[in-house]
Amino acid sequence: MDFRRSTPFDAPKMAALEARCFPDPWSERDFADLICTEGAMCFSAVEGERLVAFVAGRIIAPEGEIYRVAVDPEYRRRGYGYRLLDYAMKTSRGVGLETAFLEVRASNVAARRLYLSYGFKEVSVRKNYYKDPTEDAVIMIRASRADLEG
Ligand SMILES: CC(C)(COP(=O)(O)OP(=O)(O)OC[C@H]1O[C@@H](n2cnc3c(N)ncnc32)[C@H](O)[C@@H]1OP(=O)(O)O)[C@@H](O)C(=O)NCCC(=O)NCCS
Repeated sequence: MDFRRSTPFDAPKMAALEARCFPDPWSERDFADLICTEGAMCFSAVEGERLVAFVAGRIIAPEGEIYRVAVDPEYRRRGYGYRLLDYAMKTSRGVGLETAFLEVRASNVAARRLYLSYGFKEVSVRKNYYKDPTEDAVIMIRASRADLEG
């Protein structure tokens, strides 16, 4: 498995994997635009031609927001989500990332546990933030450069 920064050529595969993972998927254009945006924090895990996982976010130093993490269902529970997140966070130190935050559906136990296992803390809840279905968002933060040294 290779981990690397995403390029606009990854956008079609990101959108295809996204559609298998989320009820409200981003489009190919959404990913291509983000990848080309200053501060893009987009990384891919690939096996040959196959896109196995991606992290999509944006850094406005010293903060970064993680929008999406997705792992191909056939490759889950093998540590790729954790390892790609780690790769993205550590690589992004070079552009000044210190504090990362994200929001996640309250019912998404797999994602919440992944983020907790990586050192994110649950800091607040936005009531009824998501629609279809209506659901709370849990806000999670991984703070300080020191934390990222681990
Ligand atoms: C959430 C997601 C990215 C996890 O990816 P993954 O590669 O399977 O996760 P990992 O194998 O790296 O797991 C790391 C840790 O996260 C937790 N975890 C992951 N999946 C879990 C699950 N289904 N149930 C409970 N805990 C889970 C565990 O603590 C796990 O460590 P362990 O395997 O040693 O117990 C994946 O399930 C996914 O793509 N889900 C759909 C998209 C999504 O919801 N993304 C997050 C919101 S943006």
